[in-house]
Amino acid sequence: MSHSPSLPDRPTLDLDPDMSEEERLAALREHYIDVSRVHEELADQLEDARSRQSELREEVSDLQEENEALKTSSLYIATVEELTDDQVLLKQHGNNQEVLTDVSPRLYQKLQAGDRVAINDSFAIQTVLDQETDARAQAMEISEKPTVHYEDIGGLEEQIQEVREAVEDPLTNPEKFQQVGIEPPSGVLLHGPPGTGKTMMAKAVANQTDATFIKMAGSELVQKFIGEGARLVRDLFELAAEREPAIIFIDEIDAIASKRTESKTSGDAEVQRTMMQLLSEMDGFDQRGDISIIAATNRFDMLDRAILRPGRFDRLIEVPEPDIEGREQILHIHTKKMNLSPDIDLEAVAEQTEGFSGAELESLATEAGMFAIRDGRTEVTEEDFEDALEKVSREESAGKPIAFY
Ligand SMILES: Nc1ncnc2c1ncn2[C@@H]1O[C@H](COP(=O)(O)OP(=O)(O)OP(=O)(O)O)[C@@H](O)[C@H]1O
Ligand SMILES: [Mg+2]
Repeated sequence: MSHSPSLPDRPTLDLDPDMSEEERLAALREHYIDVSRVHEELADQLEDARSRQSELREEVSDLQEENEALKTSSLYIATVEELTDDQVLLKQHGNNQEVLTDVSPRLYQKLQAGDRVAINDSFAIQTVLDQETDARAQAMEISEKPTVHYEDIGGLEEQIQEVREAVEDPLTNPEKFQQVGIEPPSGVLLHGPPGTGKTMMAKAVANQTDATFIKMAGSELVQKFIGEGARLVRDLFELAAEREPAIIFIDEIDAIASKRTESKTSGDAEVQRTMMQLLSEMDGFDQRGDISIIAATNRFDMLDRAILRPGRFDRLIEVPEPDIEGREQILHIHTKKMNLSPDIDLEAVAEQTEGFSGAELESLATEAGMFAIRDGRTEVTEEDFEDALEKVSREESAGKPIAFY
């Protein structure tokens, strides 16, 4: 149906003054017939337009519904099993639960058995996932250049050196390894307590090379993309191969590679599948070429030892809590842009902050700045640091969880 149909020609009436009465009557009759035909035609067109209008109204309300659904965050992935007359049978990934759900007619038309869809927790279909791109883009963060530099990291010279040898050199000077005749490490695992600079180190290496940096958070894999873990791991390595040279960074790897637990919930099975996929990707990666793999965890104790076998994460780098010199360096780094009074002795602050992580030292500096602001000053004094220290240690004794590392 054309959206703007052309109007029928307007009938004309020619009444000659010389016409006889009869002739006039005949002409008028003919004209009447013409006019009636046009009237009918116009009435048809009007009806078409009305039905088109209601179609469009429906489309608008469907779109509004979809829009509403999209505004709430998508949570689960499911596969369309079957289309019934007006409903859709879905199978959720992860727990394999089957549900029958309603869909808008618009979405219904787009769906086919086998499609992967995103559903919310009331099983309403939010979007149909594109076969190829699917959840990949959301789960993996690709950034060409993180902004962390080695100079921003305090007290980890040895660890930085090790990471550079294990990750940077194979990418930038592969001939070094060829000449000596050894294979570069398969994967590098950074482990240590929270807030000590593991993520920072991975970012700094990526910054140093021209490699594409592909980051994936283990916890997101199992929490946000339920049922998709194994597939996403496969996609991750595929993506890296497409974009080499590349650095794959799996943060919080403990979320997908922890020791098998006793419980047999579906969540565990899912985590297992994800880990198995990771292991097989790493094993099948002999011809790895220009791809380096770094992982980080603050739960080394929880890791399944299978991932530490040769050919997998076979280079372990411990990132400890900073010692006194490290703490002083970190304090210098995080106070560089602060307006410090000349009397401040950061060495003394470092002495008093035994057991602080880099992240805690950073917040200590911020806290000291807050005391200066509260006091209406623009310069941060020794006393501000003492107040900050007192506040932080008070908070600590008031129930901060004990480090489990
Ligand atoms: N060695 C360090 N030098 C300078 N800043 C640091 C250092 N360690 C931590 N920080 C500060 O703490 C923040 C958190 O560090 P980071 O994310 O690297 O910790 P992490 O070791 O990955 O911790 P988690 O195990 O909790 O993931 C950094 O953004 C940085 O500001
Ligand atoms: Mg981290």
